[in-house]
Order: sequence, then C-alpha cells, then structure tokens
Amino acid sequence: MPHMVPEPYRIKVVEPIHLTTFAEREAILAAAGYNIFFVRSKDVYIDLLTDSGTSAMSDSQWAGLMMGDEAYAFCRNYYSVKDAISDIFGFRNFVPTHQGRAAEKVLFATVVKSGDYVPSNTHFDTTRANIEAVGGHAVDLLIAEGLDPTSHHPFKGNMDVERLKDLVQDVGASKIPLAMLTLTNNSGGGQPVSLANIHAVKDVLSQHGIPLFIDACRYAENIYFIKQREEGYTDKSPLEIAREIFSHADGCTMSGKKDALVNIGGFLAMNDEGIYQRACQLLILWEGFVTYGGLAGRDLEAMARGLWEALDERYLEHRVGQVKYLADRLLERGVPIVEPPGGHAVYLDARRFLPHIPQAQLPGQSLVASLYLKGGIRAVEIGSVMFAHKDEKTGEWQYPELELVRLALPRRVYTQTHLDYVADVIIELYSKREQLHGMRYTYEPPFLRHFTARFEFV
Ligand code: F0G
Repeated sequence: MPHMVPEPYRIKVVEPIHLTTFAEREAILAAAGYNIFFVRSKDVYIDLLTDSGTSAMSDSQWAGLMMGDEAYAFCRNYYSVKDAISDIFGFRNFVPTHQGRAAEKVLFATVVKSGDYVPSNTHFDTTRANIEAVGGHAVDLLIAEGLDPTSHHPFKGNMDVERLKDLVQDVGASKIPLAMLTLTNNSGGGQPVSLANIHAVKDVLSQHGIPLFIDACRYAENIYFIKQREEGYTDKSPLEIAREIFSHADGCTMSGKKDALVNIGGFLAMNDEGIYQRACQLLILWEGFVTYGGLAGRDLEAMARGLWEALDERYLEHRVGQVKYLADRLLERGVPIVEPPGGHAVYLDARRFLPHIPQAQLPGQSLVASLYLKGGIRAVEIGSVMFAHKDEKTGEWQYPELELVRLALPRRVYTQTHLDYVADVIIELYSKREQLHGMRYTYEPPFLRHFTARFEFV
C-alpha cells in the first residue's frame, strides 16, 4: 500500500462539500454542454481543476489579515513582503501585483521589443501570451525527456542547454532581452528543474549578458525535488536551496496563488534598478501604486506569511507526498499517468487510458466528463481541446503529442481520505474503460476553446 506522511496540521475551519447523485450529475453536465468549466462549484465534490488560488490559509495567515494596513502608500504589510522577498529570494526590488500574469505583463512590456526572443524550459500559457502580446517570440527549449510521459528522468523540467546555445547563435544575443525558467514546469507535468541545470543555463546566458528570470510559481515544490534527488542537497534546508537558486537569477515573476499559499496575489522582483523604475510606471498604470499593486494590505500580509510557510520542510514533504501518494495508488493498478509525478498534480495519460478513442474524438475531454459523472470530480483536459489546431495550408487537424488530464491538488485542502476516493473512482473507471465513448463539439469557439466549447458524446 502506498505510504503517506500524516497532514502536518489539524483542521480548525471546515467547508461542507456534497456529493450529488449520478442522475443529478448527468443533468448538470448536459446543461453545462459537457464542459466542466461551466459546472458550478457547489455541484463539484472534489475540485482538482487547479492548485492556483485554492489553498487553505493557516491560522497565522488569517490572523495576518487583521493586521492589514490599508493605507494607500507604504503600508506596513508592504514591508512584510519586501522582507520575505529579500530574505528568501535576495532581490533588491519588487512590485506587488494582483496575480502572476500581471507580473508577466509588466515585465515583458518593460523589457521585450517586437521581434525579440524569450527562451524558457516551457512558458506557461499566460507567459507565452504576454510575450506575444508585445510582439515577442516565446521559445520552449525543454529537454526531450520532458515530453516523454514514460521517461523517469529526475529533472524533466530542465532546459536543453545545447538548444539554448543554438538559439543565441541563430538570432543573436541582442534579440534576447531575457531568458526564463519555469519552476516547476507546469505545462510539462509539474516537473522540476535541477540546480545543475539552472547553473548551466545561467553560464550560457552570462557569456552573452542575457538576464535570467525565474517563473517562481511553484519554486518551493521544485526545491523539495532538488533536496530529494540532487546530489549535495539532502542536508540543506529549503531556505538555503531557495537562496542558491535565486542567486543565479536576475529576477522572478511569482503567482502567490501557488507557493505563497494565498487566494490572490503575486509579484515581480528584480535586482536591476532601471527595469524596476520602468516597471513602476507600468504598474501604476495597470495595477496600482508601487507598494500595493492591486492588492489590499491584508492580502500582502497573507502572502508574506505564506511565502515563509511554503518553505517549511514538513509542509513540503506532505505536499509533494500527497501527489506521489495519489500517483502510486493509480500506478499500483496500472492506470497510465505521466511518470514520475510532479509537484502539484497527477496527469492521466488519456491516450493510453482510452486507446480505443482516436484523438479526433477527444479522449481527454471524454475522461474529464466521465470523472465528473462517475464521482463528481473536476479535472481539466490538457490535450486536443486545448491545443489541437488546423494546419493553415492543408486545413487538416494537427493533434498535440500529449493528451493529458490534470488532477491538480489544492494545497492543504484535501485529506488522504479524499485522495483515496479520487483513486478509487479512477481505478473503477479504468477497469471499465472500454465502455467510455469519444466526444465531439456542438460549439467550437475560435480561440481558447477549452473555456467555452460545448460537447456531446459520440
Ligand atoms: N506561471 C505558471 C507556471 C502558472 O502555472 C501560472 C498559473 C501562471 C504563471 C500565472 O499565474 O494565474 O496567478 O496569473 N497557473 C494556473 C494553473 C492558472 O491552473 O495552472 P496567475
């Protein structure tokens, strides 16, 4: 039986959840056009749509809300965040933002010009979109193992350093205003990046004077993998590893909704004074004054406290352990998932789960719908609905390599019993997988299909 360390907290506030009947779920899902985004939260039993903004805050964070100083300028909570950033990340300057993508928007509008290139291991969707919005090219340079759902490489989030060198050679350093590393690599399955890779990437960049920014959303989870898997780090504390990681970076974007354990908040941090000054101008235009950036003083306080809590080793052991526990329970019964599991989510491999459903019939979407019908579980498709596109020349559909269903675990929200329930539902579905049908669109929007499309079973 897979093992899990007990929750390193006890529960003081509860939020009731309710399992509807199968007949109710059939009606609810049909009314939602078989698109899980249209199902009301109250009709979901276990919500694994995202780990973003869904954390349970601690008693200290809730107490921090009462310490909110709602002055427009230089409230005390600004200094709580400033101190945490300077202690943990070591950056001299920062601006708060309402969430991660706002930090990205300010950063790229500040440093990227039309025609520039921004390499990364893999850009998250909003990061890519914000680069493209200012005319830049977002380039993903993930190592090949990162795209292979069966590869057991310990750091499947690593950047391919040779391809980075080639890019610099091909387009010239003057066309690369910065490079990024996403820790962990969400789009690639929540896979970690090693410190050796951060070093190697930084080496190449330094030779050409290119700054390195880290998308730090899930940096604490990444740290736990470094501690477990990378030689020389077993005895280092998460804080020590954090300091080492960010000593190689020139700045970072952060969605506090992940590893700062808050429901809203983010920031952009950097050392460079010039970038900071220009970012401040855009921040005032888009987010708010430079000391609150779209957040209330209380939100800043909760984020400062959450930044520290996420570095607690017992918290990380349990957090990453939960994901592994769910993955192990599924693997034990042969359910195909992306291996090894990452830090925040288990990804079902829908192509191997439902080999009888061709990609044109959206196996990932079918699995998402079936998880809801069977057990009131909400997951998200990361496959053809999200990424398939028509070839401009031939008009033929191009399907993505990976057809995944993400089960993202909110932080400190669900217990082992909930995970067992989820595992049982999936194992049961897997044993009856031949009975699942493909899907087709009844409404197919032109952009960002997954949010508003409608479907039916074939
Ligand atoms: N970078 C990464 C790696 C992310 O996963 C996200 C958000 C963002 C940036 C943007 O942050 O949402 O605060 O604006 N990921 C969420 C998810 C939405 O469900 O994976 P944000």
